[in-house]
Amino acid sequence: MKVHVIYAHPLANSLAARLHEVVVDSLTEAGHEVDDLDLYADGFDPVLSAQGREDYHDTAINQAPVASYVERLKAADALVLCHPVWNFGWPAILKGYFDRVFLPDVSFRFEDNKIGPGLTNIRKLATVTTYGAKHWRAMVLGDPPRKNATRFLRVICHPKVQVQYNALYAIDTATPQKIDRYLAQVRRKMLAF
Ligand SMILES: Cc1cc2nc3c(=O)[nH]c(=O)nc-3n(C[C@H](O)[C@H](O)[C@H](O)COP(=O)(O)O)c2cc1C
Repeated sequence: MKVHVIYAHPLANSLAARLHEVVVDSLTEAGHEVDDLDLYADGFDPVLSAQGREDYHDTAINQAPVASYVERLKAADALVLCHPVWNFGWPAILKGYFDRVFLPDVSFRFEDNKIGPGLTNIRKLATVTTYGAKHWRAMVLGDPPRKNATRFLRVICHPKVQVQYNALYAIDTATPQKIDRYLAQVRRKMLAF
C-alpha cells in the first residue's frame, strides 16, 4: 500500500519523534511504500490567508497554493497521523494542514446539494498520539482528538475505511517501561497495517 504519514512535532528528541521513526520504519519493513510528510521540517505554512479563504469554494483555483500536498494525499491508499495532543486537539501546524489542504473537491464534495467524501482513495486511517492527561480525564472532556480522528476523518475517507486510534495517556507520569510497551505496540500495529 502507499501510506502517507503526516507527522507534526518540532523537536527531534520528543516522544513523537521516536514514535514517528517507529511508524516509518515498521511500515517500510512491512513492505509499504511510505510517503513521509514532516510538517515542521517542510516549513508548512498552516495559516489560511485572506486570499485562501476567498478562494476556498472556487474549485477551479483553490488547490493551486497546496497542489503538491493535495497530489501526495490523493496518491495514497492509507493515512497515518503522528502527533502529540495539544489543547485537546491537533498541533496548530496539523490543524492548519487540514484547513488548507482539506478543500472542497479534495476531502469532500458537494453533489446535488449533498456533502460526500472526497478521500475515497483512503482505505486505512491510523493515528499515533500521546496525551499529558489521564485517560479518564480526557474521557470526561469527551476526548475531542479521538473523536476528530475516528469520526470526522472517517466520514471523508472511503465508506469502508478501517480506522485505528493508538494513544498513550498520562505521558508525563509514564514509566520508561510503559513508554517502551507503547512503542512496541505501535510497531506491531504498523507491521500488521
Ligand atoms: C502546547 C501544549 C499543549 C498541551 N495540551 C495538552 C492537552 O490539552 N491535553 C493533554 O492531554 N496533554 C496536553 N499536552 C501534553 C502533551 O500531550 C505531551 O507533552 C506530549 O504528549 C508529550 O509528547 P512529546 O514528548 O512528543 O511532546 C500539551 C503539551 C503542550 C506542549
